[in-house]
Amino acid sequence: MTAPLTIAIDGPAASGKGTLARRLAAHFGLPHLDTGLTYRAVAQALLQVGLPLDNEALAVEVASGIDLAALDRQVLSAHEVGEAASKIAVMGAVRRILVEKQREFASSARGAVLDGRDIGTVVLPGADVKLYVTASAQVRARRRYEESIAAGGKVDYDDILADIQRRDERDMARADSPLRPAEDAHLIDTSEMDIEAAFRAALEVIDSARGAKQA
Ligand code: C5P
Repeated sequence: MTAPLTIAIDGPAASGKGTLARRLAAHFGLPHLDTGLTYRAVAQALLQVGLPLDNEALAVEVASGIDLAALDRQVLSAHEVGEAASKIAVMGAVRRILVEKQREFASSARGAVLDGRDIGTVVLPGADVKLYVTASAQVRARRRYEESIAAGGKVDYDDILADIQRRDERDMARADSPLRPAEDAHLIDTSEMDIEAAFRAALEVIDSARGAKQA
């Protein structure tokens, strides 16, 4: 049996980390968890019944009932759900509950790929490989804009850029588990890369980290 492999991937919205995480999970045959969906699921449950997003006791109760096996990417992908998730994500008590579930997922015998904002720093500080995937805010906004246009949406590039900058600010400035690269994370800047190039760059990092471990 091959040794377990745990890969932690962090980065801001639209950096390409989710696509990269799915590609790596498929390549290595590992289970994958998009941890953003766990925060989105709490936000969505509150939005759905019109409950406030700033009531920590309520959010904790909802977070405790989240089932990782039932996360529906389609339902949770809405823009306003992501925005609401970043408000929920500042609550330490909510984070502790979700982090525990995320760690349980990662404890599979084969290993796992987790992506989010605090995987390398908080959720899996002992991960075998840590990647920090980023790109300029303008490039990320352009990607979101093109995705929305391709899906038939009517969106404004400047609005998307402002949203991305607001979300970055909220995620990086919060007191509990802010978005930042772990000290031992490998940086991959995808501003000038397509997914194929990012995938190859990640594979190189992973192969050399594994080689170093076995040596
Ligand atoms: O990655 P995604 O856009 O789905 O994440 C939604 C929000 O959830 C983020 O803006 C962030 O505030 C929060 N999040 C987090 N920690 C994670 C994953 C997501 O705080 N590990």
